[in-house]
Amino acid sequence: MEKRIALIEGDGIGPEILAEAVKVLRCIEERYGHHFTYVPVCAGGCAIDRYGTSLPKESLEACLDSDSVLLAAVGGPKWDGVDPSIRPEKALLAIRKELGLYANLRPARIFSQLKHASPLKESIVEKGIDFMVVRELIGGVYFGEKKTETVEGELRASDQMAYSEHEIRRIAHTAFQTARKRNGRVISVDKANVLDTSRLWRKVVHEVAQEYPDVSCTDMLVDNAAMQIVKDPSQFDVLVTENMFGDILSDEASMITGSIGLIPSASLGESRRGMYEPIHGSAPDIAGKNIANPIGMILSAGLMLKYAFDLDEEQKRIEDAVEQVLSDGYRCADIMEEGKTQLSCSEMGDQIVKTIRTMS
Ligand code: NAI
Ligand code: MG
Repeated sequence: MEKRIALIEGDGIGPEILAEAVKVLRCIEERYGHHFTYVPVCAGGCAIDRYGTSLPKESLEACLDSDSVLLAAVGGPKWDGVDPSIRPEKALLAIRKELGLYANLRPARIFSQLKHASPLKESIVEKGIDFMVVRELIGGVYFGEKKTETVEGELRASDQMAYSEHEIRRIAHTAFQTARKRNGRVISVDKANVLDTSRLWRKVVHEVAQEYPDVSCTDMLVDNAAMQIVKDPSQFDVLVTENMFGDILSDEASMITGSIGLIPSASLGESRRGMYEPIHGSAPDIAGKNIANPIGMILSAGLMLKYAFDLDEEQKRIEDAVEQVLSDGYRCADIMEEGKTQLSCSEMGDQIVKTIRTMS
C-alpha cells in the first residue's frame, strides 16, 4: 500500500516522540511491504518563529494533499504572549476545521500492567476501564462568535454556543457505529435541563438511535457524567458529547487510566483523511531531555493505520507490541516503578520496534 503521511512535529517534546512513531511506521512498512511517504509540515510555535503564523498556507495545503496527518503537539510558554489570532493552537483548530474533522475519538483504557497507576481505588479499577469518548470537534462554543466589548463602563466578553441538527446527527452516527464495533452501548452526555443546544442534542441523538436498534442509548447530564467517570467507569462503553464537555470529560477519562503519555486519539471526518495525535501537549518541562513517553504518539500512528488505511492487523501488532514491552517490565520515567527497567524516549521506540520484529 502507498500512502502520503503529513508529519507535524510541532514544539516541545513533539520532535522527540514523533521520531519514535516514524521508527515504528518504518518497521511496519518493512514487515508488511507498504510504502509510506513522509511529508514534514511546519505548524505551531515553530511556524510562528519562522513564518509569523502558526499555520502557513503551504502547511495546510500539504495536509490537504496527504492521505493522513500525524501530529505530535504544538505550543509552549514561549508563545504565550503572541497575538491570539496566530497562537499555536490556532493551527490545530484550523486543520480540524479545514479537513472537516468533526469527530474526536479517544480511548480510555487501562493497561492491565499499569493498573496501580490509576488514581482510582483498586476495587473500582478491578471492574474495568475500557471506553471510548466520542467528542464533537468543530462546533459548539469553541467555534461560536466571540466578542469582547465595553458595556456600561466595564469589559464584557461572550462566546456563543450553537449547534445545528446536521452537526449533531453526524457525530451521533459516529458514536453508534463505534458502539457497534464495541459493546453496543452509547451514553449521550448533555445539559438538557439548562441549555437549548443540549435539548436539540438529545432530540437528534434519539432520532439517530432509532437507526441502531442493536445499540442501547442512555442520556446523562454532564455534571453527573463527571462524577460517574470516577465512581464507576465500567458503566461506559461509548460516551458521546459536544465539544467543550468532551474536552473536559476526555481529560478526566484519560487521567483515571494513569498517565497522559499513553493515550492516542483520532480525529475523523467525512473523508478518510483524519488527524492522529497523542492527547497530551508539548510538555515543555521535559522537552529536549529524551525522557518523554512516546507510547501515546506510537499508538496514535497505530490508530492512523486502522482508521485511515484500514490496516487493522498492523494496528493490532503495534498495540500488542506496546503491551508486550510493558509486560516485559520496560517503563518510561512517567510510569516508572520499583523493579522495572527505565527507558529513555528513543530506547522505548527501539524496544517497541524490536518487539514488533520478533513477535510471531
Ligand atoms: P502537557 O500535556 O504538555 O503536560 C502536562 C504534564 O504531563 C507535564 O508535566 C508533562 O511533562 C507531562 N507529559 C505530557 N506528555 C508526556 C509524555 N508523553 N511523557 C511524559 N510526560 C508527559 O500539558 P500543559 O503543560 O498544560 O501544556 C503544555 C503546552 O502544550 C501548552 O502550550 C499547551 O497549550 C500545549 N498543548 C498542546 C496540545 C496539542 O498540541 N494537542 C494539547 C494540550 C496542550
Ligand atoms: Mg484538552
